[in-house]
Amino acid sequence: MEIVICKTKEEASRIAASIITAAVKANPETVLGLATGSTPVTMYDEMAKAVAAGEVSYKKVRSWNLDEYVGLPGTHDQSYRYFMNENLFKKIDIDLANTHVLNGLAEDPVAECAAYEKQIKDAGGIDIQVLGIGSDGHIAFNEPGTSLASRTGVVYLTPQTIKDNARFFKSADEVPTRALSMGVGSICEAKKIILLAFGANKADAVAAAVEGGVSQYCTASALQCHNDVWFFCDEEAAAKLKLKDYYSWRSSIKLQKVQVND
Ligand code: PGA
Repeated sequence: MEIVICKTKEEASRIAASIITAAVKANPETVLGLATGSTPVTMYDEMAKAVAAGEVSYKKVRSWNLDEYVGLPGTHDQSYRYFMNENLFKKIDIDLANTHVLNGLAEDPVAECAAYEKQIKDAGGIDIQVLGIGSDGHIAFNEPGTSLASRTGVVYLTPQTIKDNARFFKSADEVPTRALSMGVGSICEAKKIILLAFGANKADAVAAAVEGGVSQYCTASALQCHNDVWFFCDEEAAAKLKLKDYYSWRSSIKLQKVQVND
């Protein structure tokens, strides 16, 4: 795992976006795994700026999102399909037909999830997977207690996640209690993973994910077993890491090597 600790989320988002921009420039048919939540929004804005500046095109890029609430249509303003359209897809030149979000209204959710996994496999797998992290250490909607080998399926939100996400709904009662989510095992098949974590309420989760034991109690800890994972943190989210000076020194050297400002 490489841990990049930036002064602000803006700086972290710029660097993370530059990695994606460089990858899409190098391979216009890059397959992206995308995430929702408040965390990636600044990075998505940076990606859009690069498109507006004519630096890169997403016309041939295909994307698959991590998860979707069960019971919300894509037109609902809290659905993840709606979020992606508003926060990224409308701002870049991607073909909407090339963007994929699990269908939260699927009549047969198990078949929906199996088909989704097959689509990703047929596309050659995810080249770069974007992740946020929950305050309880979840990735996608893989809550504490989820197998680290889990595959895409129906999952149940914890009271903590429902509370965290209630800010986007009129009340906690309106937050769906189930979701369709890529599994931890499915996520770990991505070739490269970029996880973003900002703010003090992520500090415990980041410390558990990076320096705790690999355990289903913190599903992000499974990323320790992946050989190309980059965590982009602001100082607050990194505050509880014991080895943060070492990570900063090492990542500054490695970032120069990957020429993120290409
Ligand atoms: P957030 O959610 O970006 O809104 O903090 C992250 C997550 O739950 O994965």
